[in-house]
Amino acid sequence: MTDFKTFGIDMWDQNKIQDFRRTLLNWYDQEKRDLPWRRSKNPYHIWVSEIMLQQTQVQTVIPYYHRFLEWFPSIQELAYADEERLLKAWEGLGYYSRVRNMQKAALQIMTEFDGSFPSSHQDISKLKGIGPYTAGAIASIAFDLPEPAVDGNVMRVMARLFEVDYDIADPKNRNIFQALMEELIDPDRPGDFNQALMDLGTDIESAKNPKPEQSPIRFFCAAYLHGTYHKYPIKLPKKKPRPIQIQAFVIRDQAGRFLLEKNNQGRLLGGFWSFPIMETDFISQQLDLFQEEDLVMETISKSDLFQQVYQIKPTWIDSYIAPVKHTFSHQKWTISLKEGLVRESKFTSERELAWVSEADLDNYPMATPQKKMLEAYANRKK
Ligand code: ADE
Repeated sequence: MTDFKTFGIDMWDQNKIQDFRRTLLNWYDQEKRDLPWRRSKNPYHIWVSEIMLQQTQVQTVIPYYHRFLEWFPSIQELAYADEERLLKAWEGLGYYSRVRNMQKAALQIMTEFDGSFPSSHQDISKLKGIGPYTAGAIASIAFDLPEPAVDGNVMRVMARLFEVDYDIADPKNRNIFQALMEELIDPDRPGDFNQALMDLGTDIESAKNPKPEQSPIRFFCAAYLHGTYHKYPIKLPKKKPRPIQIQAFVIRDQAGRFLLEKNNQGRLLGGFWSFPIMETDFISQQLDLFQEEDLVMETISKSDLFQQVYQIKPTWIDSYIAPVKHTFSHQKWTISLKEGLVRESKFTSERELAWVSEADLDNYPMATPQKKMLEAYANRKK
């Protein structure tokens, strides 16, 4: 048993714990959101919903969830799905490693678990891309196992309930919240218990705009009762995403088709198609190299480097395309766009390139930065 005192936490007695479960679940029975994955106990469905919900809001997830299950109705179909279709199904959700890992896990289920979703918490945790939160969510919702699903919402609610003086943004402290939840979770209705806290944490007990007066568990909540609600949870700021400058090239041929390149290297956005892009840092490095080696140039420029790398020689157009900004969890891109036209549409470079007409763009998986670039291009000033 965890000694909560060492963390400055006053754990409740069994009566109070029972009372808390009843209060929370009564509220859930009356107020729970009607969500499509709550109509299913199929672990595959629950898994898909939980992975989508990791970085994305419920309202955004709903249509993706339905379409994903239409396209890949079973674990087997997911395991053997074509990569392009897989990325297409995830297009716009971001954090694409989530869906790539799902496919790897689906293959694992086919080979290591005879094609049926594992039903113990330990085995669920072995699947690629399934961390402690997701394992707990699936185990409790699909298999009625008394496993907590500790995410930011749950940590926030727990921090207020017990006035926990530990930073919820520090992964080291997760075990404190896990231990609290292990005490509190209702073994008779663990899935509902976890989901009740999710609902509470996204709405009434949200981070930005909480309404503590409306919380069904306010009379259990130490921070509410002691007037310290504003102080919890303790959450110290994370590192800011690193700014990165990118140069993109919008090249069209005489038929008006766009030059797209498939990203076969980057871990970030690997597998997606976009306009040719280069990091400006890389550009200055390369330009320095050229200058040192005294290759040709009097005035080497970004456009010259583009020609070197892609072996395509556009006529540059003097249009204004507004820069595009996009923030990933660890990088903040600012993308400048330069427009060019070519006559010749043959490729000699080794990169994976394609000429794609506007009508055909939908057949190429594209991540959000590329979508933003297309939009910026459509709004260009000539
Ligand atoms: N967020 C993550 N999982 C959820 C679920 N099962 N229901 C509602 N919101 C969630």
